[in-house]
Amino acid sequence: MVINNNSSNSILINTYSSRLFKIKNINKNQLFKLFILLFNYIIFIKKYFIRKEIILTIKIILIIVGSVILFLIIFRIGAKLIRNPAPSFIGRFLDSNHRRRLQPPYKIIQASGIKKGIKALEIGCGNGAFTTFVARVVGNDGIVYALDIQPKMLEQLKNKLNRAENKDIGNIMPLLASAYDLPFPDDSLDIVYMVSVFQEIPDKNKNLKEMKRVLKPGGILSISEFFVDPDYPFRSTTVKQGTKGGFEFDGVFGNFWNYTVRFLKPVDN
Ligand SMILES: C[S@@+](CC[C@H](N)C(=O)[O-])C[C@H]1O[C@@H](n2cnc3c(N)ncnc32)[C@H](O)[C@@H]1O
Repeated sequence: MVINNNSSNSILINTYSSRLFKIKNINKNQLFKLFILLFNYIIFIKKYFIRKEIILTIKIILIIVGSVILFLIIFRIGAKLIRNPAPSFIGRFLDSNHRRRLQPPYKIIQASGIKKGIKALEIGCGNGAFTTFVARVVGNDGIVYALDIQPKMLEQLKNKLNRAENKDIGNIMPLLASAYDLPFPDDSLDIVYMVSVFQEIPDKNKNLKEMKRVLKPGGILSISEFFVDPDYPFRSTTVKQGTKGGFEFDGVFGNFWNYTVRFLKPVDN
């Protein structure tokens, strides 16, 4: 706003709407009007700036959210194009307490029905982010076969088991093998579980057939998925894949971001 004194008793006011008001012979009433005008002007400026700030905040939020979505899309497309197993150097991210805070082992253990004394197989154990937790629940009357296709992942697991804090664990058996060719007799295991692995396996029906073979009738297949994984599928996809492979659906546990689907091998198979 510009106030010009263009004569001794008149004022030109250039308002925010760019209209020029000429006030002649100023009296009390006009001064009051002038005051109201100024007041309105201040309110307008305030509103204008607040609106600008809100717009700026929305823009920043959109840019951040957009970048995250873009990153996830690129990450996921990359994972789909490169069909290799997760590289062993990601071991340090896999086996971290930060991750376990978001994907607590006890939830996977509960949802999978893992109990004391069972014979469990973990397919794609990686460097054992969850294996030691399962082994402690299973106890010395049971066993956890920790199977992976990558020798480097198993090396990391063995190093982990050699650490002082894991010296009490004597029931983990690392196995170098493929999910397509499980080194077990028919009907021999109580539980087969996988965490962030199933979507990495290209021929899912072949893998499901093999898991069904080694599980005892009524045995559990548990598949856990985590949103951060570039291969993350929706729950409905996992349920469909498992049932298509001949398993009975037994329940979904957890939430959208972090879930476990439990299946049973039919008893009359
Ligand atoms: C994303 S990592 C997950 C490791 C671990 N389950 C975890 O949650 O920390 C996937 C693992 O599955 C293994 N894997 C992929 N394809 C496999 C296959 N066909 N047979 C056995 N292991 C496989 C990879 O070597 C890798 O260690």
